[in-house]
Amino acid sequence: MDSVELFSQPPLLPYEKHIVAHGILMTIGFLFLLPLGAIIARYLRTFSPFWFRLHWIIQWVLALPIIVAGLACGISAVNLMGGPSLNDTHKKWGVAIFVLYIFQLLVGALVHFVKARFLPILGRPIHNYFHAVFGIFLIGIAFYQVRTGFRVEWPLYTGRGPLNNAANIVWIVWLVLVCTAYLAGMLFLPRQYRQEREARDTKYGADKASY
Ligand code: HEM
Ligand code: HEM
Repeated sequence: MDSVELFSQPPLLPYEKHIVAHGILMTIGFLFLLPLGAIIARYLRTFSPFWFRLHWIIQWVLALPIIVAGLACGISAVNLMGGPSLNDTHKKWGVAIFVLYIFQLLVGALVHFVKARFLPILGRPIHNYFHAVFGIFLIGIAFYQVRTGFRVEWPLYTGRGPLNNAANIVWIVWLVLVCTAYLAGMLFLPRQYRQEREARDTKYGADKASY
């Protein structure tokens, strides 16, 4: 759909407005805030203990209300349309991704509050690795979910045809940028491991870790 076509379309119906709000809020929450919080952790953690405060404020305090509002808009759109609910992959995965997000918040808190070196790998507890890997996985499936949202769900439930190619291009460019930024931040890993080893070797042990 090009811009001329977009404006020649009939005005949005109430349930379609809820879908637009749903798509925008979910994209901000999952594709902007969550990657931002992860990238901030990756880059700042070897320079300032402040990274941790920024990380949980972004992932939890800022993202949670936006994601809950986005979910509510998705559910209310389905209700306004008269259903059906949870009848396709996007809708089922949508609920699952929300549950996984809440789970990840809890794992983050666990990593922060439980410093016991349970099943350590290179001196760090296994749940620390789990939180990082699961965080990347969550952001990955959210990228896919947003894609099915604008490519499959939108045309299917509005009958307005697929969105123009700009959405597709922005999605791909953003995916490449986020992956590149995070992977480049891995260059700080040797520095991070050295700092954590030094902190463990002091008499304060793991309590001195900055997370
Ligand atoms: C990570 C991001 C997203 C998640 C977790 C998500 C989740 C959901 C959920 C839980 C539902 C409603 C399930 C139900 O009550 O049956 C839904 C419906 C829907 N979503 Fe998403 N969504 C996301 C992104 C998007 C995006 C970017 C769009 C693009 C416009 C979109 C378009 C839709 C549409 C069209 C519906 C159906 C609405 C209706 O039937 O009236 N979603 N989504
Ligand atoms: C659900 C949203 C969240 C996502 C997607 C997420 C993602 C991530 C990622 C990708 C990392 C690894 C960063 C790196 O490369 O070093 C990380 C680290 C960390 N996050 Fe989260 N996080 C989330 C929420 C939280 C919350 C709410 C807390 C605290 C209450 C938290 C605490 C931590 C801690 C302590 C680390 C360091 C783990 C380590 O030792 O490597 N996270 N997070």
